[in-house]
Amino acid sequence: MHNQPLLPAIFPPLRGSKIAAKLGVMHRERSSTVQLFETERLVARKLFHQDVPVLTAMLSDPEVMKFSVREVCDEEAIRKFVDWCLGCYATHGIGPWAFCEKDSGDFIGFCGVGPELVGDVEEVNLGYRMARRFWHQGFATEAVKGVLQYAFGQKLCESVVAIIEPEHTSSVRVTEKVGFGDYKLQEFHNRPVRVYRMTCEDWALHNKLL
Ligand SMILES: CC(C)(COP(=O)(O)OP(=O)(O)OC[C@H]1O[C@@H](n2cnc3c(N)ncnc32)[C@H](O)[C@@H]1OP(=O)(O)O)[C@@H](O)C(=O)NCCC(=O)NCCS
Repeated sequence: MHNQPLLPAIFPPLRGSKIAAKLGVMHRERSSTVQLFETERLVARKLFHQDVPVLTAMLSDPEVMKFSVREVCDEEAIRKFVDWCLGCYATHGIGPWAFCEKDSGDFIGFCGVGPELVGDVEEVNLGYRMARRFWHQGFATEAVKGVLQYAFGQKLCESVVAIIEPEHTSSVRVTEKVGFGDYKLQEFHNRPVRVYRMTCEDWALHNKLL
């Protein structure tokens, strides 16, 4: 159960290399699938409806959804989630983005920043979920760094929050490693959480860009 494989990669094989087969198709299908940015091992692009099967495999895993305000998701819930993501891209220019591994082309999960009501304030919230077989390889940290670099670098937002339950040790560790420090304790969907905040300036200072 621990290393349960995901469904096969969503993109059908083409002629040529395995990577080209899985990543190259992104540029052919439609503009929404074009690469947004890349990190050392990962490529980021928008989510779209073709991701529903691989997302369903990932988000129906109780371990992946353990620290979530949602229960495990079925296909219908995932379709609504993708609709919501497409709406976010259209209205806010941000949202959860798909991440694929460069070497294999495999979809590893999503990570991004999207609008979230925290208390009565609309914040830009950092969210990330990786399929279980990709945990413990530094992928979440790498994806989050890429997202913050892109979001702040492109001036898509001024400030980002990360909402984490204190006992979610691996997620706390990810935020610490990318430079989140101070947090407020707050209730979120009836759960006590830490609300970390990072501003564009914090990011620049942490990465010695100022
Ligand atoms: C949280 C999650 C994104 C982490 O992904 P990941 O790719 O394994 O993360 P990374 O490998 O980049 O880093 C994880 C860090 O947590 C540490 N860690 C993992 N499990 C831990 C545990 N039980 N106790 C202490 N530290 C732990 C790792 O050692 C690593 O830190 P290190 O690099 O200093 O050794 C992944 O487990 C996941 O998708 N979980 C389900 C969805 C979720 O909970 N999302 C976050 C919602 S707030």
